[in-house]
Amino acid sequence: MPRAVRLVPPSVTRYAQYLDCVSDFAGTAIDGSGIRDPQQPPVTEGDVIDVVTARLAEEDPATELAEGWVHCTSRWIIDAETDEMLGFLAIRHRLTPSLLEQGGHIGYSVRPAARRQGIASRALDLALVEAELLGIGPVLVTCDEDNLGSRRTIENAGGQLEDIRDGKRRYWISDGNGDGPCSRA
Ligand SMILES: CC(C)(COP(=O)(O)OP(=O)(O)OC[C@H]1O[C@@H](n2cnc3c(N)ncnc32)[C@H](O)[C@@H]1OP(=O)(O)O)[C@@H](O)C(=O)NCCC(=O)NCCS
Repeated sequence: MPRAVRLVPPSVTRYAQYLDCVSDFAGTAIDGSGIRDPQQPPVTEGDVIDVVTARLAEEDPATELAEGWVHCTSRWIIDAETDEMLGFLAIRHRLTPSLLEQGGHIGYSVRPAARRQGIASRALDLALVEAELLGIGPVLVTCDEDNLGSRRTIENAGGQLEDIRDGKRRYWISDGNGDGPCSRA
């Protein structure tokens, strides 16, 4: 039976779950979490409060961001039945030149203990609905050439490969309205 998931906004009420989930990554990259150095992850409740505050601010179009940063909706991936935190996902509201080349609109990661159970595939489907509500489309999602799990996740969601740039496979996922690649990049 596939695990049902939902996406929730960052919340300090989940700080213990957050720390548990982050520690599961054991210093490896946590795509979509906003944690830039996984070797120095948040470890205290105060750290989580800072993370949540920053993530929610980044989502608000009224927030002024540093040069080169774009507004971004952060979501935590939650098991819909057990309420366990399973991973992270971020939806960038627009593409900078570097996101267009490499990063794409959506980044995600699933905690190691929950991988290969269809979590990323379902989370990406839900994120695409949120992206459409945000007026983002077509959506660019990228992965490293050797990241077979992410590649399959993107292809499961209907990603159409445009090309490979500097080792990144670049896929466009259309909202079905006939937008061509790059039309809203
Ligand atoms: C990539 C990642 C998000 C996949 O998450 P997941 O929940 O395990 O993915 P799913 O269970 O939805 O699997 C999707 C598909 O990929 C396949 N897959 C998943 N991990 C795989 C692996 N390590 N090797 C080969 N195939 C893999 C699954 O079998 C499935 O294929 P199918 O639909 O053809 O059966 C997860 O491994 C992860 O968090 N990795 C580290 C961070 C990362 O790479 N993020 C993506 C950045 S682009």
